Amino acid sequence: MRAHEAGWAHAAVSVRGPTWLREPEDANALVPRLWSGTTRKRTDGTLEVGGVAVTELVREHGSPAYVLDEEDFRGRASAFREAFEAPPDVHWDVFYAGKAFLCTTVARWIDEEGLSLDVCTGGELTVAERAGFPMERVGFHGNNKSVGELERAVELGVGRIIVDSFHELDRLSRVTRQLGRTARVLVRVTAGVEAHTHEYIATAHEDQKFGLSISSGDALDAIRQVHAAPGLELLGLHSHIGSQIFESAGFEVAARRVLALHEQVRDELGVELPELDLGGGFGIAYTTKDDPSDPARLAEELTRIVADECASRGLAVPRLSIEPGRAIVGPAMCTVYEVGTVKAVELDGGAVRTYVSVDGGMSDNIRTALYDAEYSCTLANRSSDAPPMLSRVVGKHCEAGDIVVMDEFLPGDLAAGDLLAVPGTGAYCWSMASNYNHLLRPPVVAAREGRTRVVVRRETIEDLLATDAGPDPDSGSGAAR
Ligand code: LLP
Repeated sequence: MRAHEAGWAHAAVSVRGPTWLREPEDANALVPRLWSGTTRKRTDGTLEVGGVAVTELVREHGSPAYVLDEEDFRGRASAFREAFEAPPDVHWDVFYAGKAFLCTTVARWIDEEGLSLDVCTGGELTVAERAGFPMERVGFHGNNKSVGELERAVELGVGRIIVDSFHELDRLSRVTRQLGRTARVLVRVTAGVEAHTHEYIATAHEDQKFGLSISSGDALDAIRQVHAAPGLELLGLHSHIGSQIFESAGFEVAARRVLALHEQVRDELGVELPELDLGGGFGIAYTTKDDPSDPARLAEELTRIVADECASRGLAVPRLSIEPGRAIVGPAMCTVYEVGTVKAVELDGGAVRTYVSVDGGMSDNIRTALYDAEYSCTLANRSSDAPPMLSRVVGKHCEAGDIVVMDEFLPGDLAAGDLLAVPGTGAYCWSMASNYNHLLRPPVVAAREGRTRVVVRRETIEDLLATDAGPDPDSGSGAAR
């Protein structure tokens, strides 16, 4: 490691970050919209979440740690529920997408805030069950549910099963027949829209594994089959167009296509489908360049889109639902890491990049490596007057792509032992965490009104080895041979 003085990397030789990244006037200041509602900096620069200093939290629970702002999480969940209760003459249900982050505590909060729950595997269903979540408010997703998973879902009486293929329809029919039960079914359709941030593509995106295509006629065939199957109750259609979406244009195209299918079903089968789910995908701010919508605007826009389309087709507005995951839990968490090394690396042309290594990485946040996701971060244990230096925050894995934050301005005197906090890690970080390189998954520590509660504990080395069967007892040690 090259020794450096405060601010040295601020010199002309430092590499530039992306154009949207501005050098902050004060590298200690938070950009509030990236952080959970109760997060602030104390006058000494310490980051505080739910009234708890992260320095204290790390002293008690160790590092790295996911810090979950309970008040913020509940606030976002209830804001969605309230916003979608507001439009007159329509009924919206809000299903929290548990794939973003799920544990029994969060399932309980979701219930208490009056939301429904979307699960997509038997494992997530079991978490809901353990939390005592009302099964009639659970929706069960997944493109390859096993017979065992379907049996469990039907036995538990989940409110709806979102069917994704003809094979699954056969399987589910058999299961309901054998159990003498009825399952309420939504058919997942591909509307031919795949929305990305700031844009949507309405052409060749049916080439993916989910759903039954509207344009090929498969969706209508599946509806006919559900309608005819004795153990299946046809609720309606489900369309999910993508993730981290900031505009409603993609939902508009999808709603138009899905409601055209409603009209076809009415004309052919004589039934008006009673429900329609428009999926999740509502974007959040990971960095200063993201500009997300809020639940009230989403509720207003989505209601108008569906109501207008129904009116033009002479359809009654069905019971509607959405499935936000990221928009509820994403901003409610940050990850706190301890800095282990700061290394200046000279690049071609003499420019210098500063690599800051922390005690976690791609095992607790795979999103940067997997999707080129952009994050930001801040010094969390003190303030600093040192001029900002452009830094790349990396993990401790044996892999060059192990990057947590691609580019961020951090104080130039950053040193080993400092704490860094990365906002917006609530969605798809713990839930996609791994034990790569035999690292232990960090805990999820909820903070509220000055108190912490571990909602998911840190893994131990015993957890890590619990599935390792041990060496074959018949094989001697290397030394003995
Ligand atoms: N409903 C369905 C049917 C979904 O497939 C998903 C996400 C959601 C709802 C929730 O989407 P959200 O509101 O959280 O964007 N691992 C990726 C995201 C994968 C999303 C999969 N489905 C990531 O880290 O960005």
